[in-house]
Amino acid sequence: SRLWLIVPAAGVGRRMAADCPKQYLPLAGSTVLAQTLARLHAAFPTATLCLCLARDDVYFDAAMVPFADWRRIGGGAERAESVAAALTAIAAEAAADDAVLVHDAARPCVSVDDLTHLQAALVDEPDGALLAVPVADTMKRAAADGRVARTEPRDALWHALTPQGARYGLLCDALAAARARGVAPTDEASALEALGRAPRLVAGRRDNLKITHPDDLALAEQILAAQAA
Ligand code: C5P
Repeated sequence: SRLWLIVPAAGVGRRMAADCPKQYLPLAGSTVLAQTLARLHAAFPTATLCLCLARDDVYFDAAMVPFADWRRIGGGAERAESVAAALTAIAAEAAADDAVLVHDAARPCVSVDDLTHLQAALVDEPDGALLAVPVADTMKRAAADGRVARTEPRDALWHALTPQGARYGLLCDALAAARARGVAPTDEASALEALGRAPRLVAGRRDNLKITHPDDLALAEQILAAQAA
């Protein structure tokens, strides 16, 4: 069956406080988005890409896309809406059991090995799967007054990364249910969880950084250089 890649890249990157959205900032000789797409293409050269872009995006250049089969999707106000728009756009072509992987444009350091591990985990997986990393720090829950309410046992806590994926039909159901409840889940797994599913955690590399703050760019540059060495 077919593999669909959805890359939400319609964010404005407010926390970055840069002149342009973070997916277009320069990274390793190209841009964050171009690096992300190059990694995905290296792992899945024959997949179909759905690239979610802001409707008023003036930075996008089709030369950033290495996929032969791809389409541009108008993104929404929230990440979940951008992903839902992509799912809707492919409704006539996608089969319910096609695999869909959703990967943040802002994660250019994802490794090809992690991508192929996640895809393998999705085969025969009824509840979906995501790349994740066990937390290393002790985790505190904050009270409203900025003091510690309690310490969360960290041995069962993971950072949720991307890609995250599931069968097309299940992912559509999960995002439609979230929308019906009036919530915009920050990742696909939480939408699946709300349907009573238990997505599989696939241990990935810690350097699958999401570019969020200004100093993340220099870090991503170092990570890409170290991965290439
Ligand atoms: O803001 P955050 O880092 O959580 O965004 C994660 C990804 O979702 C980014 O690649 C961003 O471009 C994308 N996004 C989107 N549509 C939105 C908001 C974020 O595609 N409305």
